[in-house]
Amino acid sequence: MKNILLCIVTIITLSFLTTNAQGRKVSQSYETYEYTAITCRSHSASITDFGGVGDGKTLNTKAFQSAVDHLSQYSSDDATLLAAQDLEEYPVLKALPSYGRGRDAAGGRFASLVFGTNLSDVIITGNNGTIDGQGSFWWQKFHGGKLKYTRPYLIELMFSDTIQISNITLIDSPSWNIHPVYSSNILVKGVTIIAPVKSPNTDGINPDSCTNTRIEDCYIISGDDCVAVKSGWDEYGIAFGMPTKHLIIRRLTCVSPYSAAIALGSEMSGGIEDVRAEDITAYQTESGVRIKTAVGRGAFVRNVYVRGMSLHTMKWVFWMTGNYKAHADSHYDPHALPEITGINYRDIVAENVSMAGRLEGISGDPFTGICISNATISMAVKHKKAIWMCSDVEGVTSGVDPKPCDLLDGKQSEKMDGGCEFPSDVLEIDNVELKSCSYQNVT
Ligand SMILES: *[C@@H]1O[C@H](CO)[C@@H](O)[C@H](O)[C@H]1NC(C)=O
Ligand SMILES: *[C@@H]1O[C@H](CO)[C@@H](O)[C@H](O)[C@H]1NC(C)=O
Ligand SMILES: *[C@@H]1O[C@H](CO)[C@@H](O)[C@H](O)[C@H]1NC(C)=O
Ligand SMILES: *[C@@H]1O[C@H](CO)[C@@H](O)[C@H](O)[C@H]1NC(C)=O
Ligand SMILES: *[C@@H]1O[C@H](CO)[C@@H](O)[C@H](O)[C@H]1NC(C)=O
Repeated sequence: MKNILLCIVTIITLSFLTTNAQGRKVSQSYETYEYTAITCRSHSASITDFGGVGDGKTLNTKAFQSAVDHLSQYSSDDATLLAAQDLEEYPVLKALPSYGRGRDAAGGRFASLVFGTNLSDVIITGNNGTIDGQGSFWWQKFHGGKLKYTRPYLIELMFSDTIQISNITLIDSPSWNIHPVYSSNILVKGVTIIAPVKSPNTDGINPDSCTNTRIEDCYIISGDDCVAVKSGWDEYGIAFGMPTKHLIIRRLTCVSPYSAAIALGSEMSGGIEDVRAEDITAYQTESGVRIKTAVGRGAFVRNVYVRGMSLHTMKWVFWMTGNYKAHADSHYDPHALPEITGINYRDIVAENVSMAGRLEGISGDPFTGICISNATISMAVKHKKAIWMCSDVEGVTSGVDPKPCDLLDGKQSEKMDGGCEFPSDVLEIDNVELKSCSYQNVT
């Protein structure tokens, strides 16, 4: 029953339309479902209306495509939505311009399960309905080195504006789960993401060269970073030059034993700036908010603000890595040094921690303006001998226990009296309010 409900309630609607044309006039009785949305839809389609069956066995590709085709008749936009469970059915797309190649293999990449490009006003919502990526099929192929192209993501929206992804559960993605790229005004809310903690590259949410993104109330267990903020890779990302900026992440719960709650990078060659993370909870996670970069990346990670982290069983609370080795190819510019500056953490409680901080900048290119205040870290019984490890970093701290490394012992500015900075201005994406909408389904 629950399974069927999931399918019925998942409303995937492309391109908000101004036309008043009626969908279908039917005299049967209706069941009404409520949902909240940035803008209510004038047309909706349920997969069950098109022959979809939620028994977990029936292949619903056709029903899904029919529902989308039905909606497309109201749409003048170039909307694409694809769902398939057979490798042969996945079209191969060109590599992303800001990456220059696929991440798993040089060359193209399989289209994502739910894919859209050049869309405006996209809503993917459901009453906690599930999209199952059936990833083990892909993980095996990946581990066996059997893939000619990069694995599909579960949801990818490219060159799109005004996107809402809410109240859905995503399980076992072949690779990344939610990938908005070259897009703006994105709300991801109430999303549950679950994948085995050892599954390869099952990142939760990856805003990539996106402006104005708000991620809130999400619960993620995965085999890679719960949120991974990106903006392109080495010379390709530098040439494309599209940063991720004005990003809010709040009320995130993460479990990721081999990765970070939030990672910035390692692909950050278009730049990352103005990231505001608040109320982050993590259990059995490798690190908190981690910066990953390398010589050749260029660009910057700057003005990052983290306030309120509650961390339980962590390898590192603070982790910055300046020598993240992976490169798109050997043509990266060895003079393209990333600028990492203005990284603020405050109000942190962590327990059962192996090492408080491992902060490694780049020789000749130190990470500067690091600020840590009000952080209480309880070390694990079997913690590492070195509690902090710092190199090529500069910064200030106040109220940090255990006592931080000397490199963070900079002259404290007056600003420090109130702790590290957290901006009080309101971002545009925070003003987005959701309307109550309803959708009728023929019974
Ligand atoms: C989508 O938008 C991008 C950027 O504006 C443009 O370069 C590309 O040609 C568009 N693609 C399609 C399929 O319209
Ligand atoms: C959504 O579904 C997941 C997986 O079934 C479940 O763990 C989670 O508690 C559900 N969330 C809500 C808000 O019902
Ligand atoms: C998510 O579901 C809850 C409970 O049905 C509802 O109150 C809320 O408005 C929904 N939020 C979004 C963003 O869809
Ligand atoms: C320090 O952090 C804790 C945990 O987040 C918080 O409860 C407390 O109010 C903070 N103290 C100050 C002075 O900001
Ligand atoms: C503390 O962390 C260790 C791993 O470092 C883990 O085995 C142990 O269960 C954790 N203890 C608690 C109380 O969470």
